[in-house]
Amino acid sequence: MLSLNGLSACIGRQTVLEDVGFTLSNGQCLAVVGGSGAGKSTLLRLILGLRKPAVPVAGHLCFDGHDYALSKASSGKPMGIAYVPQSPAHGFDPLRRLRWQWQQLQRLLGKHAAGGEVLDALGLPVLAKAFPHEWSRGMQQRLLVAMALLEQPKMLILDEPTSALDPLIAAQVLTEVQRVAQECDIAVMMVTHDLALAAQFADQIAILHQGHMVQTGPAQQVLTAPSCDYAAELVAHRYWQQENPESLAAE
Ligand SMILES: Nc1ncnc2c1ncn2[C@@H]1O[C@H](COP(=O)(O)OP(=O)(O)OP(=O)(O)O)[C@@H](O)[C@H]1O
Ligand SMILES: [Mg+2]
Repeated sequence: MLSLNGLSACIGRQTVLEDVGFTLSNGQCLAVVGGSGAGKSTLLRLILGLRKPAVPVAGHLCFDGHDYALSKASSGKPMGIAYVPQSPAHGFDPLRRLRWQWQQLQRLLGKHAAGGEVLDALGLPVLAKAFPHEWSRGMQQRLLVAMALLEQPKMLILDEPTSALDPLIAAQVLTEVQRVAQECDIAVMMVTHDLALAAQFADQIAILHQGHMVQTGPAQQVLTAPSCDYAAELVAHRYWQQENPESLAAE
C-alpha cells in the first residue's frame, strides 16, 4: 500500500528529517511516536505532498501503485488519503455551521444519509446549529475523524487524534477508527505521544527522535526489545506509575 524510503527534509538550514522510511500494508495501523519537535507532523505533511514549511530534499514514496520522487514538486500528490490535522481549527470553516459542513461533505461524496452511526460511535451530539468555536477542541477533532471515515479513503492519516481527549473517549475513538479501517481495508497512520495507547491500537510502531526513525517494528517487538536508549526510555515511561509501581501500590 505505502512504502517510504530515504526521506530527508529541511526547513531553511535545519534538517528536520533524515533518511526516514517505513512500509505500511492495507488495513494495518502504524503509530509514529516521538517527543515534541521530533518531526512527526512534518513527516505526515510530506507524505500528503505538502511542501511547506519543510522542503523534501530526498526520498521516494510508493502509494497505491504510484511512485513519487519527493524532492521534485512536479511528481504530484498522492490521491486517496484523508488527513485529520493536529489542530482542528485547520479543518473547519469558522464561519459555517458544523451541520452545513458535514452535509456538504455528504453531498460531495453522494452519501446523503450516511455517517450517523459513526457520529454516535465517536460520542458526538447532534450537530444542530453549532459553529466550530461552540464545540470543544476534542469534539471538533472527533468530528474531523468522522468526516475522514465517511470518505472511506485508502489511507487515513491522524495527527495526534487523542491529544484533546480523556482516556475513555480516546479509546472509544480509536476503537471506532480501527473498526471502520478493518471493515473497509483502510491503512491508518497516526501520530501520538502516548506509547501505551499506540501499543494497544497499532500493529506497527515507529519511533521518531530528532528527525531520525530510530526503530520501526511490530508493536510488541518495540515494547519488548527497544533498539536504542531513547526507545528504551519511552518504553520505560509509557505509564506514569511505571517508575515506582511499589510506592503507588502501597498508597
Ligand atoms: N513553521 C515552521 N518554521 C520553522 N520551523 C518549524 C516550523 N514548523 C516546524 N518547525 C520545526 O521542525 C521541527 C519538527 O516540527 P514538527 O512540527 O514536525 O514536530 P512534531 O514532532 O510534530 O512536534 P509536536 O509533537 O510538538 O507536534 C521542529 O524542530 C520545529 O521547530
Ligand atoms: Mg506535531
